[in-house]
Amino acid sequence: MIVTTTVAELSVALNEARRSGHSIGFVPTMGALHNGHLSLVRDSKVRSLFTVVSIFVNPKQFNNSEDLKNYPRTIDSDLKLLSEAGCELVFLPNEDEIYPVGFNSYIELELGNLNRVMEAQFRPGHFEGVVSVVYRLFELIQPDFAFFGEKDYQQLLVVKALARKFFPQITIVPIPTVRQSNGLALSSRNKRLTKEAAQEAAEIFVALSKVRDHMLASGRQWSQSAVYSIFEKHLKSRTHQLTIEYFLIADQRDLSPATPDTPPDELRAFTAVYIDNIRLIDNMKIF
Ligand code: PAJ
Repeated sequence: MIVTTTVAELSVALNEARRSGHSIGFVPTMGALHNGHLSLVRDSKVRSLFTVVSIFVNPKQFNNSEDLKNYPRTIDSDLKLLSEAGCELVFLPNEDEIYPVGFNSYIELELGNLNRVMEAQFRPGHFEGVVSVVYRLFELIQPDFAFFGEKDYQQLLVVKALARKFFPQITIVPIPTVRQSNGLALSSRNKRLTKEAAQEAAEIFVALSKVRDHMLASGRQWSQSAVYSIFEKHLKSRTHQLTIEYFLIADQRDLSPATPDTPPDELRAFTAVYIDNIRLIDNMKIF
């Protein structure tokens, strides 16, 4: 496995791979890798001959400096996991390689509703930061395929919009959310949860499943407020320290609030909660 820290070394390795006729799969990450990330790597290994993983904790996408400071960093174990997974190249840049002095990282991308609701609403500037870094990484790596988890569904839609406008030659591949056996969606931030908080966090999945069951049973007779109550009631009865930031049934195509007239196939529940000051997000397709 090649490990590069500079853009110059990265180009040499990528040119070599392309000369050998290899298709390139790319998995951008911020490290603290877990099985969710590795499932993206595994899919990339199936679709492409040369898999590149980047590890870069992108300061521009953190709207909260404490969150950036506390973001877990586990580089030695990350490299071991990637090598075992058969990744061909790891790109580990420092900030100067990604955002050189004088470099304009602002990318003009009209996201409409996607940049107004849920993650965009509660993390102002977050998607501008994601778009800056993903644009830069796509430009440097020019992959054939890029892999993104459905765990960050809104991010997946933002990246699809970015690729549609600036990188139509890159196929964006969505990967289903990987969960623990108790349902908790894997996340680098879980590493910061106490044992008790991690148990409570698994109730998010149970509450989402209750919502789904309710909607499956009610056909078109559902409402946002009734469904919110089911979600909230479950969490209140099972957790001590969990607060809901948002919960919404949305149309998964553009994340507008869903109504009983939304095509059932497009319904998806989205939530963000805080446990012990740690912010967790999750989502679930209804049908
Ligand atoms: P990070 O949170 O490290 O996630 C990297 C990729 O792994 C994202 O596409 C994310 O959706 C996916 N992922 C995380 N947890 C997952 C799970 N449980 N199941 C499936 N996929 C999962 O997302 C980012 O980094 C950054 O915003 C990034 C795109 C790298 C830009 O900085």
